[in-house]
Amino acid sequence: MDRAVPRSVEAVDEARQWGRLMELARIGAIPGDGVNRQALTALDREARRLLIGWAEAAGATVTVDAAANLWLRREGTDPGAAPVLTGSHMDSQPAGGRFDGIYGVVAGLEVLSALHQSGTVTRRPIEVVAWTNEEGSRFAPGCMGSMAWSGFRPVESFAGIADADGVRFGDALAEHLAAEADIPRRPLGFAPGAAPHAYIEAHIEQGPRLEAEGLEIGVVTGIQGSRWFEVTVSGDSAHAGTTPVSLRRDAVQDALRALNALNDAMHDPADVLRFTVGRIAVSPNSSNSVADMVRFSIDLRHPDAAVLGPRGDAIAGVVQAALRNCTATVAETFSAAPTEFDPGVVAAVEGAAAALECRHALMPSGAFHDAQFVSRVAPAGMVFVPSRAGISHNPAEYTAPAQLAAGTRVLAKALLDLAA
Ligand code: GLV
Ligand code: MN
Ligand code: MN
Repeated sequence: MDRAVPRSVEAVDEARQWGRLMELARIGAIPGDGVNRQALTALDREARRLLIGWAEAAGATVTVDAAANLWLRREGTDPGAAPVLTGSHMDSQPAGGRFDGIYGVVAGLEVLSALHQSGTVTRRPIEVVAWTNEEGSRFAPGCMGSMAWSGFRPVESFAGIADADGVRFGDALAEHLAAEADIPRRPLGFAPGAAPHAYIEAHIEQGPRLEAEGLEIGVVTGIQGSRWFEVTVSGDSAHAGTTPVSLRRDAVQDALRALNALNDAMHDPADVLRFTVGRIAVSPNSSNSVADMVRFSIDLRHPDAAVLGPRGDAIAGVVQAALRNCTATVAETFSAAPTEFDPGVVAAVEGAAAALECRHALMPSGAFHDAQFVSRVAPAGMVFVPSRAGISHNPAEYTAPAQLAAGTRVLAKALLDLAA
């Protein structure tokens, strides 16, 4: 590397970062190199303890807030200066990979380690945050930690949301915080007028573009909007052998009518609108009983609020019109508006990629991220590294050690510039 590259950026250690990622990937490992590490579980806590050990060895102080967001802080020379933040999440999809989320946390830690090792002191403090429950697979919706921190939704408003086993988020959070009672508490959010100076989240791309174009770095300009809904179709349970079809109120059949109508209504010839039904639950879920209830999720995304708004608003009407003899409720559980990142942070990431001579391009994100909520209260941006074959939310997710290290060097340079 040329001499203009700061020593702290040169100190980013590809092997150390890869080793940490692989050690973390053992916690919740599933077949096929995947990870299943759900938010606020014993596995989540085990992974966090590993992270804390590494952070303390790098001279960082560790705190946790009331939403269980975990903070690793390296002081700057100006104690009153607003910090520069980086981070992501440590929870995974149920059949997730080794990099979604955890890469951004480990990359932030790698920056702290590189600063420590090179004896570099920044003016502003640098903080690495691991946000709670970004994926939303144990407790829906996702991004609970960053929503609570940014003031978008109070953490108490999530308390009654139950996981598949009926455990309430409020109880899981209380259990988790009790298990981390030895970690000093910090207030949730920030004092009025004391917003962070900037936030940069490093993440795998989770799509095919960087690899296809031979690029090393995506400089993320914004995130498309998302809306989540939960549809509950209610009928009556009945005997499959004795109940004439004409007399049934069969929730499976009406759910199928609703799904077919939704697929038609959400069709987009341009293939920009993303309509996904990824979870379907049937009650009583017995092959010789007519179903009395079907509950399914809807994940709807589009980069333009003027499209996402009306398409999402149409969902309830489409469902109701499709039913034959059951009833249905449609509840919106999550909404994240399309986000444009801060031009100054985007420029810092792009400048860092250029200074480090990484092949890069500006690009939007199709996935949502905690950065979407941070950006409501602080200047935010993201850096992407390639995903092999664009695969993510899948055990086969892969990014090579050198690609991950390149992203961390860009993150380090951009954070240093913003913290100067
Ligand atoms: C994040 O995991 C998303 O679903 O975009
Ligand atoms: Mn993620
Ligand atoms: Mn994800």
